[in-house]
Amino acid sequence: MLKYKIFLMTAICFFLFAKTYSAPIHPHLSWDELNGSSTTMVVTWKTLSDTSPSRVKYGITTGNYTNTKDGSSFNSSACGYYIHTVKVIGLDPDTLYYYRCGNDTDGWSPESTFKTAPAKGSSQRVRFVAASDTHTDYLNDVQTVLNSIKTQSPDLMILDGDAVTDGGSQSDWNSWFDIYTSLISSTPFFYCDSNHNYSAQNVWDQFVFPQNSNGDEKWYSFNYGNIHFIFLQVINPTAQVAVGSEQYNWLQADLIAADNDPLIKWKFVIYHGNTYAEGAYARNTYVRDTICKLFDQYDVDMVFNGHYHIYERSKKMRNRVTTDEIMEDGPNYQDSIEGVVYVIPGRAGGAPYNPSTSFYTAFNRKGLHYAVVDIEGNLLTLKGYTENGVVIDSCTITCSEASDETPPTVPEAVTYLISGTAKTSGNSGITGVALTLTGTSTGTQTTWLTGTYTFGNLISGTYTITSSKSGYTFTPANRVYTSLNADQTNQDFTGSV
Ligand SMILES: [Fe+2]
Repeated sequence: MLKYKIFLMTAICFFLFAKTYSAPIHPHLSWDELNGSSTTMVVTWKTLSDTSPSRVKYGITTGNYTNTKDGSSFNSSACGYYIHTVKVIGLDPDTLYYYRCGNDTDGWSPESTFKTAPAKGSSQRVRFVAASDTHTDYLNDVQTVLNSIKTQSPDLMILDGDAVTDGGSQSDWNSWFDIYTSLISSTPFFYCDSNHNYSAQNVWDQFVFPQNSNGDEKWYSFNYGNIHFIFLQVINPTAQVAVGSEQYNWLQADLIAADNDPLIKWKFVIYHGNTYAEGAYARNTYVRDTICKLFDQYDVDMVFNGHYHIYERSKKMRNRVTTDEIMEDGPNYQDSIEGVVYVIPGRAGGAPYNPSTSFYTAFNRKGLHYAVVDIEGNLLTLKGYTENGVVIDSCTITCSEASDETPPTVPEAVTYLISGTAKTSGNSGITGVALTLTGTSTGTQTTWLTGTYTFGNLISGTYTITSSKSGYTFTPANRVYTSLNADQTNQDFTGSV
């Protein structure tokens, strides 16, 4: 009897252990395609052993899972886990679903929910939270900020990099997921590469984002309602995205497509290396000369950065010329005015830094923070919060429908002409005289019976016109214009044999 009891206890313990060992860990949500947010949902989780199938069961009422969808898994050597991904498709827009992930044999996650986006182009109200630099050194602070974020009930969340202190440490990631799963198991979550990630495989294995043309997730974009989100790989203030580089070309094509899409009204860009905040870490002047000009050109509304562990909002900046231009001071920005507002939504757990105010600073503050963006109709409202839910900053961007619909007017270039006659001293036109234009632009003309010539469409610049014909000497030999800024007529050449 004793032997039987020992055998039974051992079997029960083994069974319980096996169930725990195989149960889903850290389920979280995202999308993996440009236009999938209103009809799909990607659920990702980990298990310690190789469980199968990878399954999500879901339905529109709690506990009543009327549908199932299977996915796939792989063994991540970087993470030391099997990573499971299921893409649920065919969902209704703007709908709340209840779900669990796992399978009958190995166990299921606790019930959670996911909500699809409104249909693409919808102007329905959207709320997202932006935060940065949680790190994993001060987990109590990470938890405190997250507790406040959860009270905001965002539709989705973005983190501007440095979730963990060591991106290659699965122990760090587990600490982060232990805290953040309570939000991102029910709120789609998006992330960008950063210096503390150093592109470690743990990042790319544990998260699913839309893939770029390289088949990786180092830069990507997706749409949510009438919003276009772009995530870039700019990991620190010295990272460069050169004009013509792979990422630059992808970004330009992506922005052009979004700008031409009549269903997209708002554009946000997220990357880690701070563009407009300086202090211990200088701002990234490299990207201001490259990708920031694309932001200006294609009407990006707001950029979210991290790395510098503060909250900071810039004035509306334009990088189209060598020196930064301040376009608006805020806090009530007009979308019709060119420029981009750069926001560091604040450290959400990492070590505190001291802000440094400069000419471009609209507001900054030391401490634990995050930002909430509400978009409704033509109004964007950004609010900065402390970890205790106190609003410390607020600004709006008002989008003028008319200005968005009307293509930007390109001012016509101002041009001038130079005209005259090649003639004899008796005012008879000389035919066959070659007039050669050199300088800012070039050209040649040969006079006809009247001896007249005209060089038109000349922009302001420096020009020289020389006349020649075999057997003739002309006075003057040439005419020089050092700064052409008006039409020049009667620019005659008198020829003698
Ligand atoms: Fe950083």
